[in-house]
Amino acid sequence: MPNTSEHECDAMIYLDNAATSWPKPESVYQAMDDFLRTKGGNPGRGIHSMAVAAGETVEEARLLMARFINAPEAQRVIFTLNCTDALNMGLKGLLKPGDHVITDGMGHNSVVRPLRKLEQRGVKISRLLPRSEAGVVSAQDIEAAITADTRLIVVTHASNVTGVIQPIENYGAIARRHNLVFMVDAAQTAGKHSIDVQASNIDLLAFSGHKGVFGPPGTGVLYVGDRVELDPLRDGGTGSHSEQEEQPSSLPYRYESGTLNTCGIAGLGAGLKYILQEGMERIRAHEQSLLEHLWDGLSRIGGVILYLPDRGLKHVAIVSFNLERQEPGEAGIILDQAFDIKVRTGLHCAPAAHKILGTYPLGTIRLSPGYFNTAEEIDFCLQAIERIVRQGNV
Ligand SMILES: Cc1ncc(COP(=O)(O)O)c(C=O)c1O
Repeated sequence: MPNTSEHECDAMIYLDNAATSWPKPESVYQAMDDFLRTKGGNPGRGIHSMAVAAGETVEEARLLMARFINAPEAQRVIFTLNCTDALNMGLKGLLKPGDHVITDGMGHNSVVRPLRKLEQRGVKISRLLPRSEAGVVSAQDIEAAITADTRLIVVTHASNVTGVIQPIENYGAIARRHNLVFMVDAAQTAGKHSIDVQASNIDLLAFSGHKGVFGPPGTGVLYVGDRVELDPLRDGGTGSHSEQEEQPSSLPYRYESGTLNTCGIAGLGAGLKYILQEGMERIRAHEQSLLEHLWDGLSRIGGVILYLPDRGLKHVAIVSFNLERQEPGEAGIILDQAFDIKVRTGLHCAPAAHKILGTYPLGTIRLSPGYFNTAEEIDFCLQAIERIVRQGNV
C-alpha cells in the first residue's frame, strides 16, 4: 500500500454515484424518517388517516415524476424496485415468441439478460454494433435492421461504462415512423438530463430512483405509454377492484401489486423536489465540471489509459480508465484501503461495452462523481492515482 501521509484528506470520498448516489440530500433522509414515524399506513388499503396520508405521499411523488418526464397522465408512472425491475416488466410484459427486437451493443445486463431469456422463448434479437468505440449506435443501422416482425427498439440512454449519451430522439422518431414500440434504459441519465417521453416518442422509459433522482435503494420507475399494453409480471392485491379475481386493467394498479415501497417513494419524491429546487442545469454543470477536471488530471498522468475523454460527445459524469501496470481490481482496492476513495472496478455489468472498448475481460476503473463531490476531492483522487502509478505495484 502506498504511504498516504503526503496528501491527507480527512473524509471518505465517494465516487460511485453511477452505482447508487450517495449521500442523499438532507431532505430525503428527513422525508423517509417523517414518513415512517407519522404516515406509515398502507396506501389504498384502508380509509383511516394513516393510509390516506401514505397514499397522498405516493400520489404526490407520482404526479411530480410525471411532470418531470412530461408523461401525459400521472397513472402512467409505475413505481418499481429499481431500473432492472422496470426493464424486466417492460421487456417480458411486451414481447411474445416470434417478435423481433433491435437493441444497441452497449447494453447493461439488466437489458441483455432478460432479452437472452426471451430469446430462449422464441423472441428474435438484433444487437447492433456501434461504428466506433464511442458506442453510439447509428440511426441508419437501426432503421436498416427493421423487419416485418420487429416490435421493439430498446436502447441505453447513457453507457454506464463510458458515460456517452446516445441520441434517443433520433431513434424514437424512427420507431414512431415504423409504428414500433420504443423503450429507453435511462438508469444513468434520469435526474441529470431532461427526458421528455412525448417529444422523444418514448413508449417505455425505465430508470432507477436511487441514482440521479436521489431516492433510496429499492426505488425505480417504469413509464408506460398509451400505445403499449403489458402483461403484468406480478398479479395480486392492489387495494383496488378487490371484488374481481383478475388483475385490474386500470393504471397504475395493473403493474403495482403488493405493498409499495412507500417509505422509499417518500424519499424519491423528496429527491425529485430537491432537483427541482436546485435546478437540473446547475446539478449537471457541477458534475460536468468535475468530469472535465478528472479528464484533464488523468490525461496528465503518464501510465493512465483514459477512455473516451471526447468533448465532442455528450457525456454523463462517468470516467473509465486503466493503469498500464496495474489491474483495475487491484487499483480499486488500493484506492479504497489506502486512500478511502470508493470507486467501481471491473465490467460494471456491461461486458459487451468492454468488448467494444477493448477492455474485456478485466474491465476498467470507473469514477462517477456526483453533485455532492467537490473539486478538492477530485484533486485528492488524482493525487492518489498518481501515487499508485508512481509507486507501481505497491
Ligand atoms: C445502464 C444501466 N441500466 C440498468 C441498470 C440497473 O439499475 P438498477 O440497479 O436500478 O436496477 C444500471 C445500473 O447501474 C445501469 O447503469
